[in-house]
Amino acid sequence: MCGIVGYIGPKSVVPVLIDGLKKLEYRGYDSAGVAVAGAAGLRLCRVQGKVAVLEETLAKSPIEGTYGLGHTRWATHGRPSERNAHPHVDCSGDIVVVHNGIIENYLSLKTMLRDEKHEFRTETDTEVIAHLVEKFFKGSLEEAVRAALAVMEGAFAVGAMSVKDPGRIVVAKMGPPLLVGVGEGETIVSSDINPILAHTPHVAFLEDGEMAVIDAAGPRFTDFKGKPIEKKIEKILWNPLMIEKQGFKHFMLKEIFEQPQVVRDTLMGRLSLDQGEVLLDETGLGPDVLRGIRRAVLIACGTSSHAAYVGKYLLESLAGIPADVEFASEYRYRDFILERDALVIVISQSGETADTLAALRAVKSRGAATLAITNAVSSSIAREAGGVLYTHAGPEIGVAATKTFTAQMTALTLIALGLAQAKGASSREGRLEVIEELQRLPHKIEKILGRAAAIEDLAKDFMSFSHFLFLGRWVNFPVALEGALKLKEISYIHAEAYAGGEMKHGPIALIDEKMPTMAIIPKDRVYDKMLSNLAEIKARSGCILAVADEDDKAIGDHVDVVIPIPATHPLLTPFLAVVPLQLFAYYIAAKRGADVDQPRNLAKSVTVE
Ligand code: AGP
Repeated sequence: MCGIVGYIGPKSVVPVLIDGLKKLEYRGYDSAGVAVAGAAGLRLCRVQGKVAVLEETLAKSPIEGTYGLGHTRWATHGRPSERNAHPHVDCSGDIVVVHNGIIENYLSLKTMLRDEKHEFRTETDTEVIAHLVEKFFKGSLEEAVRAALAVMEGAFAVGAMSVKDPGRIVVAKMGPPLLVGVGEGETIVSSDINPILAHTPHVAFLEDGEMAVIDAAGPRFTDFKGKPIEKKIEKILWNPLMIEKQGFKHFMLKEIFEQPQVVRDTLMGRLSLDQGEVLLDETGLGPDVLRGIRRAVLIACGTSSHAAYVGKYLLESLAGIPADVEFASEYRYRDFILERDALVIVISQSGETADTLAALRAVKSRGAATLAITNAVSSSIAREAGGVLYTHAGPEIGVAATKTFTAQMTALTLIALGLAQAKGASSREGRLEVIEELQRLPHKIEKILGRAAAIEDLAKDFMSFSHFLFLGRWVNFPVALEGALKLKEISYIHAEAYAGGEMKHGPIALIDEKMPTMAIIPKDRVYDKMLSNLAEIKARSGCILAVADEDDKAIGDHVDVVIPIPATHPLLTPFLAVVPLQLFAYYIAAKRGADVDQPRNLAKSVTVE
């Protein structure tokens, strides 16, 4: 939930840290700070607010150094303030730490340290780390950090430096991600890949229980006990340009428009058109394993759980197996029943969501087969699942997930087809029909994107409403859930989603002229039922916007506004129906002046409970 960046090398360190923090800001932006060390000793600058505030402050009062650490915060302990901003220091001010995660035993440690006369200045759990390092410091920062880690419980990605052991940064990982970029004569550490790509494509991904001691010669890796370890240095193929806006006003809009290519990239190499088959060997789930699967359990959070919900319908209809969708934050604490021939699919674009990772670990302890769908190469979830099917969406900077949702649905469609293929479920012709339509989706999404201006106009008419209802049925009920989440999380308008058939069981009481309804009503098996739901709303003066097939000439008589989408295979409608809803939420939020890419109270990757 926070972003950490560190640098040792020949470049001027403050600009490197600031640029890195800007690329990490989607992880948290309550407050920010940097600490740099050099001939003038240790210098800190911390502010409440975003990295831009930090940058302005530094422009007025520059600090110099040859190496340093930076941090952008999403508050967990201690309200957002300059005082609680990282980096934090020990009593002497000679030791500096930054931290992402939660020290669960910080209160008992704080009491122990206070009894030893350590003076605390903040409400944060992080400050405890600085005083622990001070307590154990006997000349070696590495050893002092190691001793501190031994008494800390919880989740932490930590960076530390000290003028009493100059010229080095020590980092450690237990939970939240920490990566080490190995450049030519320079090393950069970061919570994710984006800040590193500006300097080097060569990256080591720390695993839980691993540390790096970095100096001018580069990084040296050990475990928490000091045992040296060899780390694989991976070459990342993303180019830095992918994390720029490229002319779009916001990352979110850019990412909405990237969806056609994301579908193509996620399908690439995974379809054999002449055989009419999907290729899933990379997941490690061979035909024999797939054939033996009797049930799927899909575990995720937020938007990823909505993709999981679409996957449920795909698995039932294509593969003929029951599929249950579970919120990770609930499932991990349940006495869940998991049979040995179940396949657990965990879905997480960041691959670091704490609840999803914990749920994965819980099911693995039961011996269940696990498959991750994630967008983050070598993320914790990718590494700990039995197999992984990567979405190839590229970095998603906007906090609101868009292209990764579509990429997740693409991956789930491939898995459903693969299971159908292995189990002989649905006919080869039926599977081929879906495969061929998958290939047409990018062009159909492009058609919808070509009508973005019409949706922007619509946003003007609806931007002042305080409430919204989203309705969908069958495979489009999860799309209604996703549309409601998009609107509420970036425009702060209250939005709820319901299965259309549920309206008469209570929600219809909400309907009046102040409660517009966005309905997804393609010509599928529940079209007539949805039409009845809309008639019930119309009869109560409800305003209705309908996402409907462009060749549906009758729908205009039943609703106030029609948002046309191309027709497609009924099971694949979610790929098309979600795009107008993403655009609708985006334009309303932008017109309301909301911070679209960094909505209040949110963070891109929820790496704490
Ligand atoms: C979606 O717009 C939100 N940013 C949020 O619900 C997100 O989908 C959720 O936190 C799950 O994240 P993950 O896919 O990285 O696990």
